[in-house]
Amino acid sequence: MYGQRILLTPGPTLVDPRVLNALNTQPLNHVSPEFNQLHGETLEMLKPIFGTRGQVILIPGSGTSAMELALRIACRPGQRALVLKTGYFAGYLQRGLERLGCNVAMEEAPLGEGFDEKKAQEALDRAGDVDLVALQQVDTGTSVANDVRGVAKAAKRRGAMVLVDAVASAAGMEMSMDQWGVDVVFTGSQKALATPPGLGIVALREGLEPAERGDSLYFDIPLLLREMESTQNYFITPAVNLVKALHESLRIIREEGLGNRYRRHEAQAKAVRAALRALEIDLVAKEPFNAPTVTAAYLPQGVEWPRLYKAMVSRGVEIAGGLGELKGRIFRIGHMGQVDASELVAAIAALERSLRELGYSVELGSGLSAFQALLWEQGY
Ligand SMILES: Cc1ncc(COP(=O)(O)O)c(C=O)c1O
Repeated sequence: MYGQRILLTPGPTLVDPRVLNALNTQPLNHVSPEFNQLHGETLEMLKPIFGTRGQVILIPGSGTSAMELALRIACRPGQRALVLKTGYFAGYLQRGLERLGCNVAMEEAPLGEGFDEKKAQEALDRAGDVDLVALQQVDTGTSVANDVRGVAKAAKRRGAMVLVDAVASAAGMEMSMDQWGVDVVFTGSQKALATPPGLGIVALREGLEPAERGDSLYFDIPLLLREMESTQNYFITPAVNLVKALHESLRIIREEGLGNRYRRHEAQAKAVRAALRALEIDLVAKEPFNAPTVTAAYLPQGVEWPRLYKAMVSRGVEIAGGLGELKGRIFRIGHMGQVDASELVAAIAALERSLRELGYSVELGSGLSAFQALLWEQGY
């Protein structure tokens, strides 16, 4: 259905043919009533994914562009921010905040662990007064998921704002900004939203009114917000075909239902973890901090990442390697968005044969059997 290669990286992810078809049209005029309506509907369909009744900003750019816009909204120069680090992408938050003139304190969880209310409270106690707490909901580098609800509770007790990177979690895991008191969340189009890369999305808690900083042409917040009200308030040209594709993907998500989608992600992730454990492969993320969208696992002794990548691709499946300090030590399987059990079955089968080819002793079928059993147990 998706061509020769099954793409199971933690972004970009597989895209439904309906979404591909939406891309494959002449561009709409961005100030036309037709596009304005499509754009408005897209923003409305994004709101439940973030659990906000507030404003959503959609810009052309990758997840990092959305991060920069979100950081500009959440932090003023001279303010103090606490970044809770659970992997590679916390470094982006740190650098972004520092470059915007904020003073940053870092708190790093032991590898594989995440932050919950208690750990966030302890981190806040060590950091002293902060204006902002920033973290990933899922750090794609380690596949650690933080308990954002608990962290927000701890931050609110201190009166700090909360900013969340949901690049690897939005539409694959619950986010309830208004209910949990999360102020600013950002994501990109290419992960659990199952749309090609190229759109950055920033969501604001209901009632949050961002002030303008006046130090950027592109990230002009009032002008972007005016364009979100109507694309006829032209400021920058929207990525019209990508917006059309996202609109279609959001319709698919709505047809599945968000609750069903989150349950499916959880079930698939549990089954993938069971498969890897059955193959005696160690996982990076520890319970209860495993992400439902991606699983990072240590390469078995003697198995080198470039050879595993090649062996998997030769079997039609593409997975990802490690980032930063974990490069060459781990591999990562993305299981978010439209990725379903059939593709994961193919991936685990390919993994078993690839590992055996590379000299790691594997009982063929043991991972698959564990995967199947766990899925069945969960009603899939
Ligand atoms: C958690 C997280 N944050 C930020 C980013 C950066 O997004 P992008 O590569 O789209 O700029 C990524 C990319 O994988 C990510 O996984």
